[in-house]
Parts: sequence; structure tokens; C-alpha cells
Amino acid sequence: MPTLATTVDGLKLPNPFIIASGPPSTNLNVISRAFKEGWGAVVAKTVSLDATKVVNVTPRYGKLLAGDGKEAIGWENIELISDRPLSLWEDEFKRCKDLFPDRVLIASIMEEFEQSRWAELVERVQACGVDALELNLSCPHGLPERKMGAAMGQEPDIVQEVCRWVKAAAKVPFWAKMTPNITHIEDPSRAALRGGANGIAAINTIRCVIGVNLETLRPEPTVHGYTTPGGYSSRAIKPIALRMAMEIAQVIRQEFPGRSLSAMGGIESGHDAAEFILLGADTVQVCTGVMKFGHEMVRPMCDELLAFMARHQFETLADFKGKSLDYFTTHADLVKRQSEHHAAQKAHPSATLSQQMHHADGDWSGDDFVKQSHALAQTGQSGPAGKTEPPPHPGAN
Ligand SMILES: Cc1cc2nc3c(=O)[nH]c(=O)nc-3n(C[C@H](O)[C@H](O)[C@H](O)COP(=O)(O)O)c2cc1C
Repeated sequence: MPTLATTVDGLKLPNPFIIASGPPSTNLNVISRAFKEGWGAVVAKTVSLDATKVVNVTPRYGKLLAGDGKEAIGWENIELISDRPLSLWEDEFKRCKDLFPDRVLIASIMEEFEQSRWAELVERVQACGVDALELNLSCPHGLPERKMGAAMGQEPDIVQEVCRWVKAAAKVPFWAKMTPNITHIEDPSRAALRGGANGIAAINTIRCVIGVNLETLRPEPTVHGYTTPGGYSSRAIKPIALRMAMEIAQVIRQEFPGRSLSAMGGIESGHDAAEFILLGADTVQVCTGVMKFGHEMVRPMCDELLAFMARHQFETLADFKGKSLDYFTTHADLVKRQSEHHAAQKAHPSATLSQQMHHADGDWSGDDFVKQSHALAQTGQSGPAGKTEPPPHPGAN
């Protein structure tokens, strides 16, 4: 019987599913709900020293609806970090650890670029008994005028410096959460690990504009006629998150063995989780999925991940962590492998050559263009081999 239990940076988790920082972890009510439903750990909504500077607007979300218009596959938010005073959070962190002493509670913290502020924040939250810290260096709309969030996370030197400050003050492990709004996510990840982070969390949201209302001609979400670019999350970002998780996992494997990766971005099922773990993640986080399906979605996710493991005879997460990383190579190497394969086929006169070999740009015809496009595609799927439809999503109708 496979097990989902895992130990990461000394933290013992019953399963790798972690609530990501955001509305599903925004106060003790929802954090308690998460633990009761069985989540492996919770990263609380990001806190800073002075919540009075945080003022949210409504509406602050925008959805990209797919197909029949019932399901949001993309989600924009212009929500800031927690607007609740740190003193209230200190009380709730302590109460949470009293209520759930054996469960892993991670505080997400964010501050301005000043060592004394980071040190004070680290000391205050860890004094409440939290098990670990996540540094939010990545919120795309996080108070840029104060140079917080992604404004910091885009600068590897600043990332390294902040991690050094946190390392000096922290008695618990900490992860640095990366912004995807950068060309090479490896650079700030490397800087964070050099600065002493135990692990990397990635990705935060991708800067976006969700759409323009064709009646009012106003971009959305519209607040008294205006908007500002926000952060994109949910299923639509999974391919980007997978790519970035893979890039970070390669850095960890080659340069920082033993450090950890908590991956997120569009995860909604056990199969999604399996893909991220196959690309090197130790744990997976979910934010928007919980906003769509509720905290109870963790149960079918655990069942699906266990079934995947049983199907492949994996006993533990370590048995398949990073197993698919070896199959990334350069495009030039793909061309070489393809010609070697075709040469081997030609050596057997009975074999029929695959059609794709002959598909050069001149072969596109105007008539069966859609059919030809389809023939050149491999359907992205996380379900069992041979199943073309993705698995049903928990709560989806
Ligand atoms: C409404 C909303 C609020 C968020 N707030 C925070 C936050 O306070 N701190 C943080 O580090 N990430 C925050 N995030 C980002 C998520 O933790 C996560 O990195 C991102 O949404 C991608 O994961 P997902 O597709 O599972 O949502 C927020 C996301 C959403 C949708």
C-alpha cells in the first residue's frame, strides 16, 4: 500500500498537498477547515508588519470562462496581502498551533527592503510557534511603490540579501516564493538558495489583464470604471508552472542537492500533483482550485495520487520525484533522435515510415488544415495512458 506521508526540510506532512497563501488561508476559520479536511500543511495569507497600508478593492477577481461558460480556467486577482493586523495574526497563529499541534503551519511574510523589518517579522511570527516560513518575494501587484513582492523577487541580488537576513533571524526552515514574471526563474531561485533558503516555492501569479467588457469598453475587473493589471492563476497557467518547476528542479538537482521545491500553479487534481512531483517537486500547493471547489477537494486529490502510485508500483513520493526530469533535452537533440529513429526504420523494409517524418512546411494544404494541425499534436493529458479526456475535476459538473 503506497503512502503519501513525506518529510520535507524536517517538516512531517501526512500528504504533499499544501494550501497556498491566499483566500483559502486568510484567517483561522479557513485554516482550521483546511486541517480538518486533511490538507498536509497550510501556508497562511501573507502578513507584513503594518497592515494599515493594505487596502483592498471590490471587485478584485476576474474569471476566464471556458467551453460552456461554466468553468473558470483562468483567474485574475488584484488582491493585496493580508489587511489584518499582525497582532491578530500572532494570536491566531498561536491558537492554530494549540488546536492542531501536529500539523504544519507556514507563515508567509513580506516586508520592505530593510533588514530590521525582516528580522522583526521573522522573530514575531516564529515566536508564535509556526513551523516554517515562506518569503513572499513575488506578489505581482504587491505595493510596488514600497518595492515589495515581485519588485524584489525580480532582482537576484536583493533576493539573496533578504534570504541572508532571514537566515540570520530564523530558527525554522524557510522557502522563498518566486515570481514567474521574469525570463529566467533560475536566477532568483539560485540567489535565494545561495542566501540560505531551505527551498523554493513557485510560482506566484502571472501578470495579466483578464479581458475587456465589450458593452462598457472597460477592462476588468472594473473598479469605478478603471482597473490595474493583476495576477493570473488557475488551470490555464499549469503548463507555465510546470516549465518553471522543471527549471528550478534542475538547478536544485545540479547545484543545491537536498534543497526542496514546493510547486504550484493550476493544480486541481491528484494527476496534476503527480506531474509536478515527476518534475521534481517535494510538495504541491493549491490556491485557486480551493476557491473553485472548496477545501474538501483534498480528499479526491489524495485518492487520485494514491491510485497513480499504485498503478506504477511506487511506494513513496520519493520513488517518482524528479523521474521525468531526465527526458528534457535540446531541440537539436530531438532532431538527432528523430533521424536516428527513421534511419533504423528504413533498415527494415517492411516498416512503414511515420507520416510526421514527411511533414515539412510545404506539405500544409489549405483544405484539411485543421485535420493536419490535429495530426501533428499530442494531447496533453495527465490521465491514465490511452485516456484522451482529462480526469473529472472535483466538484465540477
Ligand atoms: C485571490 C488570490 C490571492 C492570493 N494571495 C497571495 C498572497 O497573499 N501571498 C502569496 O504568496 N500568494 C498569493 N496568491 C498566489 C497563490 O498563492 C499561488 O501562488 C497562485 O495563485 C498560483 O496557484 P493556483 O493556480 O493554485 O492559484 C494569491 C492568489 C490568488 C488567486
